[in-house]
Amino acid sequence: MSQERLTSLILCFLVWQLLINHSNAAVDAAGGSWQLLQKSIGISAMHLQQLYDDSVIIFDRTDFGPSNLSLPDGKCRDDPNEQALTHDCTAHSAKYSVVSNTFQALEVLTDVWCSSGSAMPDGRLVQTGGYNDGEKNIRVVLPCPTCDWQEFPNGLTARRWYATNHLLPDGRQIIIGGRKQFNYEFYPKTATTSGVFNLSFLSETNDPSQENNLYPFVHLNVDGNLFIFANNRAILLDYNNGVVVKTYPQIPGADPRNYPSTGSSVLLPLKNLQSGNVEAEVLICGGAPRNSYLKAQKGTFMTALNTCGRIKITDASPSWVMETMPIPRTMGDMILLPNGNVLIINGVQNGAAGWELGRNAVLSPVLYQPDNPVGSRFEVQNPSTIARAYHSTAILLRDGQVLVGGSNPHKKYEFTNVIFPTELSLEAFSPDYLNAGVSNLRPQILSPRTQSQVGYGQNLLVRFSLAGQVNTSAISVTMVAPSFTTHSFSQSQRLLVLSGIGKILLNGKNIFQMQVITPGSGNLAPAAFYMFYVVHQGIPSPGIWVQLQ
Ligand SMILES: *[C@@H]1O[C@H](CO)[C@@H](O)[C@H](O)[C@H]1NC(C)=O
Ligand SMILES: *[C@@H]1O[C@H](CO)[C@@H](O)[C@H](O)[C@H]1NC(C)=O
Ligand SMILES: *[C@@H]1O[C@H](CO)[C@@H](O)[C@H](O)[C@H]1NC(C)=O
Repeated sequence: MSQERLTSLILCFLVWQLLINHSNAAVDAAGGSWQLLQKSIGISAMHLQQLYDDSVIIFDRTDFGPSNLSLPDGKCRDDPNEQALTHDCTAHSAKYSVVSNTFQALEVLTDVWCSSGSAMPDGRLVQTGGYNDGEKNIRVVLPCPTCDWQEFPNGLTARRWYATNHLLPDGRQIIIGGRKQFNYEFYPKTATTSGVFNLSFLSETNDPSQENNLYPFVHLNVDGNLFIFANNRAILLDYNNGVVVKTYPQIPGADPRNYPSTGSSVLLPLKNLQSGNVEAEVLICGGAPRNSYLKAQKGTFMTALNTCGRIKITDASPSWVMETMPIPRTMGDMILLPNGNVLIINGVQNGAAGWELGRNAVLSPVLYQPDNPVGSRFEVQNPSTIARAYHSTAILLRDGQVLVGGSNPHKKYEFTNVIFPTELSLEAFSPDYLNAGVSNLRPQILSPRTQSQVGYGQNLLVRFSLAGQVNTSAISVTMVAPSFTTHSFSQSQRLLVLSGIGKILLNGKNIFQMQVITPGSGNLAPAAFYMFYVVHQGIPSPGIWVQLQ
């Protein structure tokens, strides 16, 4: 090889390296990375609930035929009411263990399709309703290695299909709405709260040709009332007295945001919890224009909404502030990250929710940074390679990753010759804060110990280590409630930023301690297990679980 040829080859190689490094840098700058955790868990993850033992209870529906996961020990389920298979030897629920990245089949007895639920104060999952023989049932899963579903027939007064639940300050759950149910009920029931309570707001927002008010967005306000958004309107409900205490203005544009237009919503992080005057803001993003569902059935797939509405629900005269997302999206999930940012993930750019009605997957999540100035809040993240359309899900894990699964816009499992094949995989999205490059900034919690119990309004000593230099003015402590997630909405999701008192003190080499005050009431934070983080310059520690009680 001539000297000249060799030189040019080396040059080529260097340029190529430069390009590679450069493109890697560009990709990193876009934010976040993806990991395939499981190619197939055998079922499609339509509903997710993480429990305090780091297991994720996953379930789909029982009435569409076999899944790709067998029940253990050659077991089969015989259900004469089942619509597809009355003798079914496959599972429709699974437990995923985050730490070991393993899964096992669970056995759910009746149909849990399009249902709702919440973790209870003691950490149990209580799930409500579904379809057909499951529509009035209550089911329980305990956090334990060998625990399976327990079923309580007729635990509900009304059938609940596409309802939204929320954990309440007194430890009950409220179950709101559902198909043809313009009312709510409670679990558990007492003598005075055993029936259903009418909510005319749900019939007023029901558009009979396309509903558009199912899976309403429900957030517990800091005054103990419930913010309920359905279709394009919102109220504040005193559920104990059945009184609408506030009616919010219609969201600008008037387009619907709930199923089957399916946008999503979060309660933004609650701060200054000691102030006695805590402000609460709700963010709603995406959805599909009115009639998208009807048009998609006729083959016209309208572009999804690209707007978010943000409203301070505690204001005396609240008003919506509209912002524009970089990508239109329907059927996206909104996930509160430990540092208070919101991840908008999954979904499609055209069509509506329902069988076969979505087109054009949105593979890139978008980060929303609520404390940035308007105009610099959104940041497009690196894309996945897997489309997550109708019936996809996402939740925050204790380690700060976002678990992503599901997607099955078909009446059965369909793996070939369809636009969005049924997805049985689980992925993890790691936001930039998990990059190895920032590990020097990452706190590690030393105390409290995981699964500690903490009371309300309590002084809590938090000790953490940090390899690099601490910036004491950029430390916060946050608590995130693990949500029940389905149909692009995370029920009972909330994040609290705890107030610190006094200085952060050095307590040994690279070990620090600080005092925080736990939330003062169940209105701020219902009793439950929370993921608990120390956040330093936007970089969260690995979380621990604390039980607020
Ligand atoms: C699920 O099972 C079906 C039928 O046996 C098979 O065709 C399909 O490839 C399986 N899919 C996955 C993702 O395992
Ligand atoms: C609740 O709504 C139902 C159905 O619309 C109606 O029959 C019933 O009278 C209502 N109950 C009350 C207490 O308003
Ligand atoms: C420390 O954090 C504060 C608050 O985020 C920030 O304004 C400041 O620039 C940081 N200081 C250093 C040295 O990074």
